[in-house]
Amino acid sequence: MSDSTTINRRGFLKLSGGSGVAAAATLVPFTSANAQTSPADPSKTTLDYPSKAVTAAQKLTVEAPLSFSYPDERSPCTAIKLGSPVPGGVGPDRDIVAYSTLCTHMGCPTIYDNNTKTFKCPCHFSEFDAEKAGQMICGQATENLPRVLLRYDEATDTVSAVGVDGLIYGRQANII
Ligand code: FES
Repeated sequence: MSDSTTINRRGFLKLSGGSGVAAAATLVPFTSANAQTSPADPSKTTLDYPSKAVTAAQKLTVEAPLSFSYPDERSPCTAIKLGSPVPGGVGPDRDIVAYSTLCTHMGCPTIYDNNTKTFKCPCHFSEFDAEKAGQMICGQATENLPRVLLRYDEATDTVSAVGVDGLIYGRQANII
């Protein structure tokens, strides 16, 4: 017994060109479970950076850089108190800056050198200037170190990360 919506085994194999397995693989019903995730606001092509409290400004010292992650847990960063004001620096002395620590050459973790105020990559020896917006000084990298944009709240002494200037290594977008 069959009606117009029922298909028997022979008919199915005929329609699928004899390959029931291949055809079955293409007949997965479309449901919300296998639909691609949509951005919260479909009119936007990118998402906003989150605001994340990093530290109290008074806790940062010139000798002790602070590791944190931003904009997500897969992105290691370092906040530094340089000891003298720089453009874009925040805090009471306008000397606090932060960077992604992933080298822009091939993604090795860079290490901050307090004596030279530079981030040094141990893989192929690229160096980046922490006082000049992460500018690449030498080595294999061709891009500056991405700078984490900071905001300082004087009332609470809180330094927060609010964005990134530059593309974090290995990503097509910093926030997807
Ligand atoms: S990964 Fe840093 S210089 Fe190559």
